[in-house]
Amino acid sequence: MSAPPRRVENLHTDKGKVPVYATGIVEQPWDDYSAEDHATWATLFARQREVLVGRASAQFLQAQDAMGMSPHAIPKYAELNAVLGEATGWQLIGVEGLLPELDFFDHLANRRFPVTWWIRTPEQIDYIEEPDLFHDLFGHVPLLMNPVFADYMQAYGQGGVKAHGIGPDALQALTRLYWYTVEFGLIREDGGLRIYGSGIVSSKGESLHALESAAPNRIGFDLERIMRTRYRIDSYQKTYFVIDSFQQLIDATAPDFTPIYARVAGQPSVAAGDVLDTDTVFQRGTGEGWANDGDV
Ligand code: PHE
Ligand code: CO
Repeated sequence: MSAPPRRVENLHTDKGKVPVYATGIVEQPWDDYSAEDHATWATLFARQREVLVGRASAQFLQAQDAMGMSPHAIPKYAELNAVLGEATGWQLIGVEGLLPELDFFDHLANRRFPVTWWIRTPEQIDYIEEPDLFHDLFGHVPLLMNPVFADYMQAYGQGGVKAHGIGPDALQALTRLYWYTVEFGLIREDGGLRIYGSGIVSSKGESLHALESAAPNRIGFDLERIMRTRYRIDSYQKTYFVIDSFQQLIDATAPDFTPIYARVAGQPSVAAGDVLDTDTVFQRGTGEGWANDGDV
């Protein structure tokens, strides 16, 4: 890392205390990446691609290839933007790290995706608490090449601006939707389950866990059920939700959420590992290794 990111404040959220960085857009300081930074990218890229063949959605892998991402060097945002702009009109902007919610939603609503400019240190190869360049670029950016997913992300940003005006319960429900789709979603493809969530594709351990472990539940996508479901921030997820297609995601989230938020706010939340009678269960987890507390 060439310079430490600039932490400006800590924000208390339902994810605990998270650092919130300067909100300004920064130019990617590409010339300042060290040989070690490029080597970290190369190591993570090669390792994840090996894990993800046959595990990640083919749409994700194809999009990553189409963008020209390779282990050779940390990609230049400007070069990715030329391809991405042509494909779906999305643009990457460099940021210091996590943004305040409203700024983040506003960027998405305008088809701008904030990408953290700095990459983790070699000591953080297997686990890092906050999103870095590898998580954002390798994990989130490829599916912005997909026209349907690209529209979903913009709609999410617009919905976020709206939820922000409605209040904390609405924001919590929307955050859970993001968590269980964009970050930790699974999709049915070629007769099996595949990964598309960025939090999974950017983690070797969670890629194997999400698909192959007997511990977690794998349950069919259900909007209101997801909006009620708490999640894990310090361990692998106890439950993954499965979509049939990105079209299902955009169709299911098209209705006005205002009455849905009100209904969800009146119902009890669901623990991260619970299975309900109304669930479409692909796999009921054994729960092996689960901590009893710590859902957020
Ligand atoms: N339809 C949602 C609303 O009215 C907006 C949204 C779309 C939210 C897609 C998330 C994902 O608030
Ligand atoms: Co993320």
